[in-house]
Amino acid sequence: EGGILKRRIIPLCTRRMEEKMASAQAVIPDDFEMPTEAFDIPRSYVGDLSAVVIPEGMIKDRVRRLAQDIHSSIGSEPLALLCVLKGSYKFFTALVDELTSARFNCPHPMTVDFIRCRSYEDTQSTGTVEIIGLSNLTELKGKNVLVVDDIVDTGRTLSRLIHTLEESGVKKSWTALLVSKRVPRSIDVAEDFVAFQIPDKFIVGYGLDYNQRFRDLRHICVMSNSGIEKYKNLE
Ligand code: IMP
Ligand code: MG
Repeated sequence: EGGILKRRIIPLCTRRMEEKMASAQAVIPDDFEMPTEAFDIPRSYVGDLSAVVIPEGMIKDRVRRLAQDIHSSIGSEPLALLCVLKGSYKFFTALVDELTSARFNCPHPMTVDFIRCRSYEDTQSTGTVEIIGLSNLTELKGKNVLVVDDIVDTGRTLSRLIHTLEESGVKKSWTALLVSKRVPRSIDVAEDFVAFQIPDKFIVGYGLDYNQRFRDLRHICVMSNSGIEKYKNLE
């Protein structure tokens, strides 16, 4: 009797725990900031940044787990990965590598595609979203698509993109996001897989830019006021 009870209860508990773990969030608290002097910040960027908020190593570790969660949630079906350039280029590469490992035994391959959306100038939203590379979207018709984007702030860019994908007839879409800002959302957008939830601060690095600068920076950092001033209106 005890054996039957064990067999019935344990798998259920394990499954619930797995579900809970899969939806667990990595939250960066408001005051979590580390001195730039403690990291290998390129000399040319030193005065422009006020703090490191997510070091590269932490991103790599989190992306590995995120890929495992994506795989256990989406399963072994064919999957088209859509990279939203330019901001997600590093995240995309890391995620594709980890998904390749996670999907090692899958009978179906993944494909990769690239598009661009632009909605920001300086640190303020312009309110309009431009999608470049739309012709590629027809290739995604009838496919399972994982949209890989860098950051969700207002959600305007991502919701517009998801809407466009739905219109072009994708079978199913999910979103994988490097960071999600802790701000009240006026626009409701699906955030399926989020690597980090961060405070409402303007960040750069690991692909993210300020007027096209800082994308090559290894770590995710907060800009200093002088840095914001220095690269204002510069392309
Ligand atoms: P949303 O449409 O307001 O969600 O903004 C999304 C886009 O704005 C992102 O894809 C980024 O290009 C840009 N963005 C928003 N916040 C930041 C930030 O803190 N650093 C760099 N880019 C940002
Ligand atoms: Mg972007």
